[in-house]
Amino acid sequence: MGNAGRSILRLVLLGPCLLALCGASGPAGERIALMKEMSGILRLLGSVANGLLPVDGEVARGAATLHTDSVRLGGLFPPGSADAEGRALDRIWTERATFDADMAAFQQAAASMAGAVEAGDLAAIRPAYAALARACLQCHDSFRRP
Ligand code: HEC
Repeated sequence: MGNAGRSILRLVLLGPCLLALCGASGPAGERIALMKEMSGILRLLGSVANGLLPVDGEVARGAATLHTDSVRLGGLFPPGSADAEGRALDRIWTERATFDADMAAFQQAAASMAGAVEAGDLAAIRPAYAALARACLQCHDSFRRP
């Protein structure tokens, strides 16, 4: 098979995936991908907070990425972006002020964590981790389908 043939084959295989069958696309797909990334980073930061891992390059990059993700996440819940396959509750859009407040608290917690990690300050990382994990849960409890 030539290059063109291979490209077409790839399109045929990926096409339905991009459209629907392999999960949400658009803002819903983007926010779900970010959530998954943040979930892995949160686990890493939990190990640091519990004294199981030192603050190394990966941890520093993770904390910085989580902070960037938190800012991006703020723009990924436009009205009408609920996805049939996703877990976003309609309350996000009917109780927007509460949702925005949860988002802002989360972004603040992610910024504090980034600062604590950058300073390599374990005494600050511990409470920053607790606040961050709480901020994820707070929003999920109100705005994510179980
Ligand atoms: C301001 C609200 C909010 C915050 C803060 C938030 N989430 Fe979410 N999260 C959601 C919503 C809403 C969904 C469902 C999104 C969808 O399906 O469209 C979700 C989905 C998820 C998912 C499921 C993704 C999947 O596979 O379907 C994971 C994992 C997740 N969040 C992890 C996190 C972590 C970890 C944090 C904190 C570091 C966090 N979230 C912070 C609202 C939030």
